[in-house]
Amino acid sequence: MQMRLVVLNDDLAPKGSLHLAQHGVSYYIEIVNGSKIESVLFDTGSSYVPIKYNASISHIDLSKLNSIVISHCHYDHTGGLYDAINEFGKNVFAHPSIFRENFYLPYRYIGMPKDFKQEVMTYKNLILVKEPLKISEYITMTGEVPRKNDLEIPVDMFTIENGKVVKDLMLDDNSLFIDLGDSIFLISGCSHAGIVNIKNYVEELSGKDVNYILGGLHLLNASKEKIDFTIKNLEGVELFLGHCTGENAIQRMKDKFGEKVKRIHSGFEIEL
Ligand SMILES: [Fe+2]
Ligand SMILES: [Fe+2]
Repeated sequence: MQMRLVVLNDDLAPKGSLHLAQHGVSYYIEIVNGSKIESVLFDTGSSYVPIKYNASISHIDLSKLNSIVISHCHYDHTGGLYDAINEFGKNVFAHPSIFRENFYLPYRYIGMPKDFKQEVMTYKNLILVKEPLKISEYITMTGEVPRKNDLEIPVDMFTIENGKVVKDLMLDDNSLFIDLGDSIFLISGCSHAGIVNIKNYVEELSGKDVNYILGGLHLLNASKEKIDFTIKNLEGVELFLGHCTGENAIQRMKDKFGEKVKRIHSGFEIEL
């Protein structure tokens, strides 16, 4: 079995690169096993056009995708969803609460764009699930991730329940993992559930060690205590970090783990 992962959207594109950057996440994952091919698009960035453009530069035919998985409601992960659905259809997997109000205070809406939310809600191939779900032979989505520590609880986002403004715990945060046989490759959007919680849950679900993590770890404005805690718990894992991880946290992990840490960007590719 061979895996190819291409970053179709990160906030960073290196100088001179043909690939475009925009705020957000979109990853293309392809598993080839003999004549069988599984492919999934994980998140859709802030908008679809740069993703489509980057896919063409990386020689990816998005019309052949099997499915789209959405990590959580934020506009920088769902912004291209409506255009992607319109262009190539396919199953869309996400958490049932993905359409809720979600905002910073003072009120700044950061959920799924409201100009197409209704259309996505009624899309015929939408699969809303809280539980772990194996979407193909090698690829599983985690669904809701149990929260087991205080440090990784989201604190600065809000929602509305029964007319009241309450903290939003981002229960929709959902990751993907790929079974490589003797280890696991974990892919996360923003890790709002906490990367340590996510890693532990994936190891519990799969019964295998997570050897690779790729995505955003949401440590941009994190306390030193939280970054220390994360570093301590990710020892031994190969880390491919981008988006909302924060350059400070990435540098601290590079200082500690050296070559095991890489900064990803639009156009970044892994083949395993
Ligand atoms: Fe994000
Ligand atoms: Fe997010």
